[in-house]
Amino acid sequence: MRIAAVHGPNLNLLGLREPEVYGRRTLDDVNAALAGLAAELGVEVEWHQSNHEGALVDFVQQAAPRVDGFVVNAGAYTHTSIALRDALAGVARPYVEVHISNVFARERFRHRSYLAGNAVGVVSGFGLNSYPLGLRALVEHLRGTAVPGA
Ligand code: DQA
Repeated sequence: MRIAAVHGPNLNLLGLREPEVYGRRTLDDVNAALAGLAAELGVEVEWHQSNHEGALVDFVQQAAPRVDGFVVNAGAYTHTSIALRDALAGVARPYVEVHISNVFARERFRHRSYLAGNAVGVVSGFGLNSYPLGLRALVEHLRGTAVPGA
């Protein structure tokens, strides 16, 4: 099983960017945490970051044939991108939407997600731990080992 993590705009700035919201750990730390959990779960993981909407669409299209699902933090494109929603729907791979912050405790414009409606689920507000939580949930979903009713 292979999973791709999709990191959207400004997530390359993790560690520097609004540390009171996003903390002081970096995107490399996120990817290392994903790699560690992937090894524990016996799955492969890759990742891609871009600040460009079309590049994220291209990545989803190009990665889809080799992956079983996506962990997606689309950053601000979560709240704006019909193109990314359509790409994820078009490739028909399950995905979990993740956010470092609790987007529902923030500005109203962050309450809407164009991606959530087609996601397996959403993990939001657990800091960088949102990523491994999302990866574990996606792998359990794909394996059919999620706790029934949960
Ligand atoms: C974010 C939340 C978004 O609203 C914001 O635009 C981001 C990061 C998060 O991980 O909390 O860039 O996706």
